[in-house]
Amino acid sequence: MKIFIDTANISEIKEAASLGILDGVTTNPSLVSKEGKDFRALLDEILKIVDGPVSAEVISTDYEGILKEGRELSKIHHNIVVKIPLIKEGLKAVRTLSGEGVKTNVTLCFSPSQALLAAKAGATYISPFVGRLDDISEDGMGLIEQIVTIYNNYAFDTEVLVASIRHPLHFVEACMMGADVCTMPFNVIDKLYSHPLTDIGLEKFLSDWNKQKK
Ligand code: G3P
Repeated sequence: MKIFIDTANISEIKEAASLGILDGVTTNPSLVSKEGKDFRALLDEILKIVDGPVSAEVISTDYEGILKEGRELSKIHHNIVVKIPLIKEGLKAVRTLSGEGVKTNVTLCFSPSQALLAAKAGATYISPFVGRLDDISEDGMGLIEQIVTIYNNYAFDTEVLVASIRHPLHFVEACMMGADVCTMPFNVIDKLYSHPLTDIGLEKFLSDWNKQKK
């Protein structure tokens, strides 16, 4: 299981990287716009902090525009993964870019048929959004189970990157299902190592230690 952070915030990326368990970063236009920085400068900063896949999303929605942006982004650094929306024009662009050796992350996936087509187009990663499905009373993690099964049935190489994770249970279930990657906001990563019994246990150990006769 690879752990990515889903943010464009440099402080959060630095703090997650300092834990020593961070494998990559995913961004999207909403996350980037929140930072109020130049996109290219922001990517350069992120690439210096994390030596792993960094997803950068295109804004174009037409085939030619996606290709142009995708090629430009991929030239920035070998760790850049071009994030492309799961629309008709996007699928066509994924096929062309993957033929050129460009790594792609197909985003805004909400159904198993979308995921199958992305894999056939040669996507490096598929990003199903589990939290946003839960938000409309659909089963986000059920979608992950379906995609993992389908990809295993047909031996696709496309990695299942679970996105829109809202809490540690999404992460644990994704691990149980055999997904390849989880991308999470900093606040979820921060909860993965916390347990009240660990804190209570440590407090007791230390207070018992301090009761010793010196
Ligand atoms: O980056 C894509 C995805 O993880 C967004 O999550 O929380 O905006 O639904 P969220």
